[in-house]
Amino acid sequence: MSDIVIDRAAAPRPTPKPGILDIAPYVPGKSKVDGVEHPLKLSANENILGSSPKAREAFTSVFDQLHMYPDGRAPVLRDALCETYGLEPERLLFGCGSDEIFQLLNQTFLEPGDNIVQGEFGFGAYGIGARACQAEVRTAREPNYTIDVDELLKQVDSRTRLVFVANPANPTGTWIPGSEVRRLHAGLPPSVVLVLDGAYAEFATDPAFEDGMNMVREFDNVVVTRTFSKLHGLAALRVGWAYMPPEMAAAVDRIRLPFNVNIPAQLAAVAALGDVEFQERSLALVERWRPYLMQQLGGLGLEPVPSAANFVLVGFPKTPGKTAKEAEGFLASRGLIVRGVGGYGLPDHLRITIGLEEHNRAVVEALSDFMKG
Ligand SMILES: Cc1ncc(COP(=O)(O)O)c(C=O)c1O
Repeated sequence: MSDIVIDRAAAPRPTPKPGILDIAPYVPGKSKVDGVEHPLKLSANENILGSSPKAREAFTSVFDQLHMYPDGRAPVLRDALCETYGLEPERLLFGCGSDEIFQLLNQTFLEPGDNIVQGEFGFGAYGIGARACQAEVRTAREPNYTIDVDELLKQVDSRTRLVFVANPANPTGTWIPGSEVRRLHAGLPPSVVLVLDGAYAEFATDPAFEDGMNMVREFDNVVVTRTFSKLHGLAALRVGWAYMPPEMAAAVDRIRLPFNVNIPAQLAAVAALGDVEFQERSLALVERWRPYLMQQLGGLGLEPVPSAANFVLVGFPKTPGKTAKEAEGFLASRGLIVRGVGGYGLPDHLRITIGLEEHNRAVVEALSDFMKG
């Protein structure tokens, strides 16, 4: 290199590989409103009760270990999950949130020109990692805002390596029964990985819902992902985990960065898992107020989509003065931050996290005023 004369002014600059700049930047739920000092954030499906006091205690108990690297295999958390759910340790993998697990799965299986398949309103994180692998993101129609197995199968071709289904889904909140998940699996070639994203699985209480754990044991190509961000209220700590065939876990683990889940996060997750009282309280809150929001918002002439998660997607009219975008601004002026989901192809909807009683009532009251004009 040393004897080559470079015309530095004319030399090309570092260029991201093809496809990177086609990825739309992820836009997270807002957390601030100009002019409102303490707005209420109902835009990110967080746990409105906070987190388990036991998890907080575990988190603070390790302040004198901050100089130490974590054990990325998360042995204590691994044992705790195995005991709680009756799982086998060699099938587990941990991530910096389940987001990282989607990324690791994409990196493990996708070559340029391959594709992933997801619903048209599918969670944004799957596609970011796939595109970074120069893979195509194929989307299937979701009639009634719900995953449709036949539509998904229509998108699968010889280059499909992964199919992602969040069940219940974000941002729609809808779900499909275990029988449909199994029909989807039966229609896929065995070489395709079916990823069942269970970020909101704990909130789905219908007996026809299946969390997919048995499918992981039955088949070689099913992965279930879960998170501590929602029910357990530990979104800040970034702990996700996946249950998958052991050979797959061993393969994916090769590209997992060694220290991806930190010590306070691992310990807080163990404590959260043991705090059944907090989990029950969180679930009870959602079960109590989800129907209220659905019913009240429906009564205002809005169109709430039936939800099995800790949020509700609501459809607004296209009429000027009554649109979702205007409603988002109106709610913000009352200190209520909800999520516009235009980026998901749902410009006429807003997604609202279920809050405490007073929050839910405030949302209904504000939207009632908004609809009255
Ligand atoms: C469907 C779905 N999957 C996964 C995640 C990511 O969760 P985590 O915090 O574990 O990365 C979210 C977060 O909003 C989600 O809505």
